[in-house]
Amino acid sequence: MSASASPRLNFPQGMLAGQTAIITGAGQGIGAETAAIFAREGCKVVIADIDAVKAEKTAQAINAEGGGGAAIAVAGDVTNNEDINNLVEKAVEFSGGKLHIIVNNAGYAWDSPIEQIKDQQWDTIIGLHNTAPFKLIRAAAPYFMVKDGEPRSIVNISSTSGIYGNAGQASYALAKAGLVGLTKTLAQEWGPEYGVRANTVAFGAIKTRLTQAPVGEYVVRPDGTKHAVGFHGGYDQEEKWFVHAFCLFSSTSTIVDLLS
Ligand SMILES: NC(=O)c1ccc[n+]([C@@H]2O[C@H](COP(=O)([O-])OP(=O)(O)OC[C@H]3O[C@@H](n4cnc5c(N)ncnc54)[C@H](O)[C@@H]3O)[C@@H](O)[C@H]2O)c1
Repeated sequence: MSASASPRLNFPQGMLAGQTAIITGAGQGIGAETAAIFAREGCKVVIADIDAVKAEKTAQAINAEGGGGAAIAVAGDVTNNEDINNLVEKAVEFSGGKLHIIVNNAGYAWDSPIEQIKDQQWDTIIGLHNTAPFKLIRAAAPYFMVKDGEPRSIVNISSTSGIYGNAGQASYALAKAGLVGLTKTLAQEWGPEYGVRANTVAFGAIKTRLTQAPVGEYVVRPDGTKHAVGFHGGYDQEEKWFVHAFCLFSSTSTIVDLLS
């Protein structure tokens, strides 16, 4: 099911009117869909992605939809300090001086059994899922540690791997678990005084590029090396995934198809 087809149940449209959000990894998948939903609620969304072409395409689609919000694309690598500073700067320019939401979503897995994990593999995943969200939050601190009565929210995208572990995903599981600690600390530091809400969303299986069997798509790292994206058997084993997701959640969970 595409989120665009989701019915509106009991809220009025425009829940995010007047707000500006940075969403990392929003060139496709969960991030792109989140951006589209936010824009339909009147939010200005900053599509941050290492893939400039996909970021631009997502922003254009949102602007063409004309659902009340607006979008800009800011290409960059969230593991690069300069790109993080540029992202915050462009977002503030776009909003006219304020930031309200960050969704730390950019990410991928680089899996191996523990005894085979290389240092570069480990450092890349921890850097991408932990250090980068921390640095973006830190760079945006002046726009969140404010008392203007406007809503502010930081959402860190985790995974059920971080809650339950997942064989073959030691680095990813550690990093995703780490986000929970970062989020809780943020809530304690910025919640009481500034009213910043901090939440972690730990997804189960969502059908995106990340969870497909490798199909020749790559994430290009800053040093030019490439990492094939995809997941073990991918969604060829959809039935198994479905059962797995339900077991992990032990509550209602739906596999959402965001591949289009
Ligand atoms: N798909 C799932 O089943 C699932 C489950 C749990 C958690 N997650 C998490 O959800 C998030 C989004 O995943 P997705 O499934 O939409 O994957 P995806 O591969 O469809 O999208 C990820 C996006 O992040 C971008 N990105 C990667 N590295 C980047 C970097 N260094 N700087 C900026 N952008 C970068 C990619 O270009 C891509 O557009 C990830 O953090 C992932 O770990 C996904």
